[in-house]
Amino acid sequence: MTDPEFAVVEFVLTTSFYNDADELDADDLPSAHRRPFWADGEIERPLTPTVDAAREATGVERPWDAISGLMFTDHDSFSGTLSLTDRGMAEQWYLDRADDDRIEANPTLAAEFADQRDVSLERARELTRPARADRAYIDSLLEQYFDEEEDEMLDLVDVRVPAEIELTLEDIVLTDEQESEIHKIVKAIEHREYLATIGLREIGKLLFVGPPGTGKTSVARALARELDLPSVEVKLSMITSQYLGETAKNVEKTFEVAKRLAPCVLFMDEFDFVAKTRASDEHAAIKRAVNTLLKSIDEVSLIDDEVLLIGPTNPPDQLDSAAWRRFDEIVNFPKPDVTMRADILQIVTREMDIADFDPAEVADRTDGLTGSDLRLVLREAVLGALTEDRTTLTQQDLLDAVAEVEERDTLKNMDMIEGDHDALVAGGLADGGHEHDH
Ligand SMILES: Nc1ncnc2c1ncn2[C@@H]1O[C@H](COP(=O)(O)OP(=O)(O)OP(=O)(O)O)[C@@H](O)[C@H]1O
Ligand SMILES: [Mg+2]
Repeated sequence: MTDPEFAVVEFVLTTSFYNDADELDADDLPSAHRRPFWADGEIERPLTPTVDAAREATGVERPWDAISGLMFTDHDSFSGTLSLTDRGMAEQWYLDRADDDRIEANPTLAAEFADQRDVSLERARELTRPARADRAYIDSLLEQYFDEEEDEMLDLVDVRVPAEIELTLEDIVLTDEQESEIHKIVKAIEHREYLATIGLREIGKLLFVGPPGTGKTSVARALARELDLPSVEVKLSMITSQYLGETAKNVEKTFEVAKRLAPCVLFMDEFDFVAKTRASDEHAAIKRAVNTLLKSIDEVSLIDDEVLLIGPTNPPDQLDSAAWRRFDEIVNFPKPDVTMRADILQIVTREMDIADFDPAEVADRTDGLTGSDLRLVLREAVLGALTEDRTTLTQQDLLDAVAEVEERDTLKNMDMIEGDHDALVAGGLADGGHEHDH
């Protein structure tokens, strides 16, 4: 942790500059400094640096004790407010101790010190997540929008803020098509107002189509992070109530949550779960729920509501055309080809020590495996090496692990091998399964 004295002075200085600089907004405070000031989804001036606020913002247990030895600080023991009796002196004290990187991590300070140090507000803004990405912001919104009676609505969804999403788009190997689809959406969000003026509203509903383990969930989350938006995740099996009559209502509530938290990404996981039951299931309540889902999809809009909807599904035959047609962009998630597999291997082994590592060879031998299977390969290899008390892997460890995972995969996928029914007969499996010739 940084020096408590320094951290508290920095916080009090920041609030003081911020209160004087009307051209700055909440995005220009570091996330930690915003934390104590959220109320109903907003941060209002003036910021009052009380002892409690300073503790929450800096993590320093006794903020006044930390700075009471300095000549330019004061404390009102009645209101608990910390103050600077001589701001000029405080600035000098701070500048003597802060390096440029430290200042640039705080846009408010960067704006103030731009002419004295090699820092800029613009760069500082790039380095700082916007206020709407904060957990504290989302929590204050949740508190504002959902009273006790509606609290149970929140059990239907998983809300993640960007700061809690670890995966970035750089961690995922994308096809060119995926890259360009994602780029399109990023641009559409940037130019939302323009799209509204020209009446282009049919945009912002993405269907991710691909077999399990090809990165659909990961891309949805990483995209939310990239866009600095909270992600609202729903598992459709979660909203299918044991009281079937409730299911339609739950579907409506889910969309309501997303609209209240907008701008956000609404990720409907297990999307095919409901959609595919439409055709097959006769139960009236289920049909009603599915119709509600379709209607809700119609009524939510990126342009009007700032909700980006993403629904993942396994290959097409499972989803009926009524659901299919409601999405304006279909993004294909194929099993990775040999080049992508090598790239995925590079990424997932980034932190590992592997002697004679040759990702191309492993990629060559893993035809038909997905990104998630490749992660499994790595895990097997690591665990295998650990049984011999090794933390340095070898290429051979990886190859052995491939064999193991393929064995599992063959068993798991017996009914999924595309169009190749011979593969299902004993002979097709006897030689180890995955020897597709391309
Ligand atoms: N193209 C890829 N690049 C990097 N990692 C990948 C890729 N595809 C999958 N993975 C990894 O595999 C794991 C599983 O991926 P994910 O859960 O996103 O798949 P999914 O398509 O949502 O699967 P499901 O259909 O079962 O929900 C994750 O850890 C993810 O990072
Ligand atoms: Mg998934």
